[in-house]
Amino acid sequence: MSDTRQFAEPTELADWGWPDIQALGGGSADPFETASLGGTWRPKDRHFGVWHEGRVVAHAGFVVAPVEVGGQRFDVAGIGGVIVDASLRGHGLARLVVAGALAAARAEGLERALLFCLPDRAPLYAHLGWYALPEPVVADQPDGPAPVPLGAMWTPLTPEAGWPDGPVRLHSLPM
Ligand SMILES: CC(C)(COP(=O)(O)OP(=O)(O)OC[C@H]1O[C@@H](n2cnc3c(N)ncnc32)[C@H](O)[C@@H]1OP(=O)(O)O)[C@@H](O)C(=O)NCCC(=O)NCCS
Repeated sequence: MSDTRQFAEPTELADWGWPDIQALGGGSADPFETASLGGTWRPKDRHFGVWHEGRVVAHAGFVVAPVEVGGQRFDVAGIGGVIVDASLRGHGLARLVVAGALAAARAEGLERALLFCLPDRAPLYAHLGWYALPEPVVADQPDGPAPVPLGAMWTPLTPEAGWPDGPVRLHSLPM
């Protein structure tokens, strides 16, 4: 595991927005490389960041979102907007900041978290304990439900939490 002792623990951020994301992405117009996929994405309700030398160098966002899977309905922690300063990648900051958002989700009593990512990011999340869902998740879009054009992954927030079999319907915009 990366040694992140040089970094502070993640804290909740009062302000967070697109200019902050672009700054971490080195000024890229498409810092998540998902612009070509289209779709409408849900802004996050809570933001967690790692401060380092007077600025935020890693971010993870979090919403509470209802899902329906195999006839069961439950809320998940929807994790999104995960980004690390382009000059500080590969030092464990994604691990650290995602853990901060998941701790907040656990404190809200949530038992599972869900995220969407490009296929080349999936091995990183698998390494962090996330499991790929086999089929695309169907989520809300402005003109009706549609499959999310990214892979879906979930992780348990309690030792007992499992994920039911069956198609997943997210009753929210994807995050
Ligand atoms: C994706 C991103 C957030 C990763 O940030 P990072 O700080 O470099 O990631 P970390 O160093 O915390 O890596 C987490 C762990 O995954 C491991 N890992 C990284 N790439 C991996 C891979 N391809 N396969 C397996 N494990 C991998 C790391 O070794 C690390 O493990 P460790 O903590 O046990 O040492 C960063 O590259 C980024 O900001 N990219 C642009 C925005 C983006 O794509 N965000 C993701 C949206 S879903």
